[in-house]
Amino acid sequence: MIEVLSVASEVYPLIKTGGLADVTGALPGALAGLGVNMRTLVPGYPAVMAKVQSVRIAKEVPALFGGPARLLAGRVAGLDVIIIDAPHLYGRDGNIYAGADGWDWPDNWQRFAALGWIAGELGMGMVDGYHPQIIHAHDWQAGLAPAYIKFGPSDRIKTVMTIHNMAFKGFFGADIFGQLRLPPHAFGVHGVEYYGGVSYLKAGLECADFVTTVSPTYADEIRTPEFGLGLEGLLNARQSTVAGILNGIDTSAWNPATDPDLVQKFTPSTVHMRRLNKAAVAEKFGLDGVDGPLFCVVSRLTDQKGMDLLLQAVPDLVAQGGRLVVLGSGESYLEDGFRHMAAAHPGKLGLYLGYNESLSHLMQGGCDAIVIPSRFEPCGLTQLYGLRYGCVPIVSRIGGLADTVIDANPAALQAEVATGIQFAPNSVQALAEALRKAVQLYGQEKTWKKMQRRGMKSDVSWEASAARYADLYASLLGLNNDDD
Ligand code: ADP
Ligand code: GLC
Repeated sequence: MIEVLSVASEVYPLIKTGGLADVTGALPGALAGLGVNMRTLVPGYPAVMAKVQSVRIAKEVPALFGGPARLLAGRVAGLDVIIIDAPHLYGRDGNIYAGADGWDWPDNWQRFAALGWIAGELGMGMVDGYHPQIIHAHDWQAGLAPAYIKFGPSDRIKTVMTIHNMAFKGFFGADIFGQLRLPPHAFGVHGVEYYGGVSYLKAGLECADFVTTVSPTYADEIRTPEFGLGLEGLLNARQSTVAGILNGIDTSAWNPATDPDLVQKFTPSTVHMRRLNKAAVAEKFGLDGVDGPLFCVVSRLTDQKGMDLLLQAVPDLVAQGGRLVVLGSGESYLEDGFRHMAAAHPGKLGLYLGYNESLSHLMQGGCDAIVIPSRFEPCGLTQLYGLRYGCVPIVSRIGGLADTVIDANPAALQAEVATGIQFAPNSVQALAEALRKAVQLYGQEKTWKKMQRRGMKSDVSWEASAARYADLYASLLGLNNDDD
């Protein structure tokens, strides 16, 4: 059994703001049958503490970046966890990264230095009887963990850093360095230093034994300036220890045959029954009918997700007979934009500004297509949920979207392999054309149903990718000869 400590600021179902949580929440279960025991280290935000029932105090930490803390260990919601109970860092309401004013919490550098530092200490035997062999850090919030191991007293445990999103670097001024509990030489090009300041993501990418990201295409893209955003040089330099491992999804939590959030459950052979879910979505969003294709968005409303492009394509979509329902929250100019657009197209564009896990399931199970016009997408999960639920993905041809959706071009349609629509370049015009193509394909009932069924049958599980992580851990520990 390989003992892995996964370190993340989010893990579903304890705390989630995006796909990171889905991945860290599903991986332990996917690895369980593969000889890997994965425990997750997570901050004790109020939402996490509220779910804690039977845990034990594994360690008292008298001074953790400004106050006392305790490590609570146990099983919560089906996961083996170690929770950092540190009210001075995590015990506050609202968003886990930002205050009500929308600005990042000013002490984020301490909140996530604490996460990385505890991970490092656990890796060096802080808790009696617990000896992880690998630390697997996710995104910038956990990025200091590999640095604490690399610059710590013993370098015996191996580290993996996974990039879920290169755009968030965890960048802070150099003045924090003195308080990070790292030796002076860690402030350098082979340590945490980044353009004169400190970047937690760069620290992880530099110090980890192996770096992964969440799709093969994104792994290639981030070696270019456009997607590497300043870290492409580092990634190119360590190219032989960087790999893209595609995300899967939790196929039991996302199963249209058993999903309690659906009005009508269905399988590939009863895909026509989705219409009952479609009617329920239309009613919830106050649409004026269910004839014609119904498109949806389930997303953070941000530039990354290309939501500004979609806004501009709405009038054309409506003119083609399409309707759109949007579930999301994010940047205020986009929220306002969708509000105005909904007011201009009553009954055609439905809006739910906020977060609603259960509604997201119903939308995937009832809408005809999901639109994902991202400018960059390390993997993307909503297109995988879409495939699984017969909600045809319409995606920009980048990152994990390019790797998971088979475009309905004439050859793919003829060969009967298409599962969605890809478009490029990422422009309003190309998106509008893709939406028109979807409206047209939707009109060819047989072709559309076949495409839905193929998507539902495609493999979006963790099976293959979990095996790749298990192989990676084993090879880092020198436990297999299988280096492919
Ligand atoms: P990212 O992590 O970049 O936001 P992903 O596609 O990887 O994008 O994952 C997003 C996850 O968050 C999916 O599980 C999606 O269903 C969910 N999600 C995003 N916005 C909402 C929302 N407003 N309500 C419910 N679920 C949402
Ligand atoms: C990030 C990415 C998304 C990816 C998710 C899980 O939030 O933006 O593409 O699917 O992490 O890896």
